[in-house]
Amino acid sequence: MNQRTARANAASFHTPDQIADSPLARYRDLVDDWDAFAETLCRPLPVAIWANASRIPVEELAGLLREQGLSPTPIPGLPNALGLPPTVSAGQHWWYCVGLAHAQEVVSQLPVGLMDLAPGQRVLDMCAAPGGKTAQIAFALGNRGTLLANDISFARLKALQGNLDRLGVVNVTTTLGDAANWPTAGGQFDRILVDAPCSSEGTLRRNPSLWRRLGTGNSERLGPRQRALLRKAVQRCRPGGRILYSTCTFAPEENELVVADILAEFPGKLRLLPVSIPHFVTAPGLVDWQGRTLAPELALCRRFWPHHNDTGGFFIALLEKDAGLPAEPEPEPAVMSTEEHGDWLSGLESKYGLTPDYWSRYRVNRQTRRGLHLMAADHRPPAVPPAEGRGLFFHRTNVRPPKPTTSGALLIGRDVVRFRLELSEIQRDAYLRRETFTPTPEQAAETPPGQIIVCYLGHVLGVAVWHPSGVIESLFPSRWSGCASGPESDRQLTTDN
Ligand SMILES: C[S@@+](CC[C@H](N)C(=O)[O-])C[C@H]1O[C@@H](n2cnc3c(N)ncnc32)[C@H](O)[C@@H]1O
Repeated sequence: MNQRTARANAASFHTPDQIADSPLARYRDLVDDWDAFAETLCRPLPVAIWANASRIPVEELAGLLREQGLSPTPIPGLPNALGLPPTVSAGQHWWYCVGLAHAQEVVSQLPVGLMDLAPGQRVLDMCAAPGGKTAQIAFALGNRGTLLANDISFARLKALQGNLDRLGVVNVTTTLGDAANWPTAGGQFDRILVDAPCSSEGTLRRNPSLWRRLGTGNSERLGPRQRALLRKAVQRCRPGGRILYSTCTFAPEENELVVADILAEFPGKLRLLPVSIPHFVTAPGLVDWQGRTLAPELALCRRFWPHHNDTGGFFIALLEKDAGLPAEPEPEPAVMSTEEHGDWLSGLESKYGLTPDYWSRYRVNRQTRRGLHLMAADHRPPAVPPAEGRGLFFHRTNVRPPKPTTSGALLIGRDVVRFRLELSEIQRDAYLRRETFTPTPEQAAETPPGQIIVCYLGHVLGVAVWHPSGVIESLFPSRWSGCASGPESDRQLTTDN
């Protein structure tokens, strides 16, 4: 049994009887079928991924997975997603490492689809890490415009940046801080996501060790923080704009009670919207809990009980701010370095055969001494709060010769017409394991030595150096190479809830 299977099987260490004796028993009267609920919580969670449509259609991704014997299944209601058995460790596969897909559990994929996103909107993701929903929002905006992704944890923000880099997201500026203190000078937003920190009861299937931490104390501790985050979201939302509040817990103290209190703080200025989620069974939000009666509109919230759709537990509330309220002026934009970098870009253009107008779709900026970042041409982050990172670090210029980063290669590599080499399956695996390998005579006839972009089945894998000695050296980053270590490995890229 590999470690992934062992982890999945560990999910069954609790039993329906234990669920009945646990703090979750307080939900017995809320659930339509307690036995099904308890039994489902004792089963491992199926894996779900979504295809990065900017790189691969979902049908082609499904074909790649089938060739690997992975049996992907469609997920009704999520046309871009595929289901996989719980034993599959998506983060250890080559297609994952090179940003063709992202792993995100089914219920967690749903909120972004309810935000009515469109290119041109200014969007804030207040509690963003590790970034699955940020990436979904970024692509729903067409990978253009301005999305701000904030988190309070530096380590988690780094994981988020890693995910955005792998997937090729260029319209995000990240910020570090308590979103409840998000500055007024940062401006207002058309859409705000508050995917709040919570007691995570709904993730028990994926994270059985949570079992030891179940208890109402968590909800009491988290409630004030959740209210502060949602309150700030209302303040920072444009008139007529929308806020999506979500958690992965069953606790009413972190769900309906939070929403009810914030609605009461903004009478006449905020309303709950109905949400429609075809193909998913949902339950209405609670309108009374432990003696407290809530406004009937709280029923517009949606609850996801695990046994209804074979998922984790989740809660969603969609709010709209009154359109008649006065709007604030646009925020001061961030001033970015105007240092000249045309030589670097034309160097890349001529080496790899990119078109002369290639960079016009991007804003290029030197944010650190290490090299250049790419942002969408219309990305306009505000001057405050200060950014942790803007866009995608794509070209390392402090090394000789300069080289595209792996995320840079994944982004521009599709448009490269020279110094591009198609690898065999064995070479692909060697490349991802950061091993040197020898090209075939046919490959040697095709591409001259030097820095090259390597591909597999037409999909870019990253950068390599073809040495005059005849071997190819992998420049695949060590921190990305968990995918190449095989299913027995415990190493994994960060995936989301
Ligand atoms: C449920 S997770 C978010 C998951 C994320 N939206 C995704 O889809 O990948 C909650 C996040 O909130 C962050 N967080 C906790 N308190 C916060 C605060 N006061 N301000 C901003 N982020 C906070 C945590 O570090 C955590 O990453």
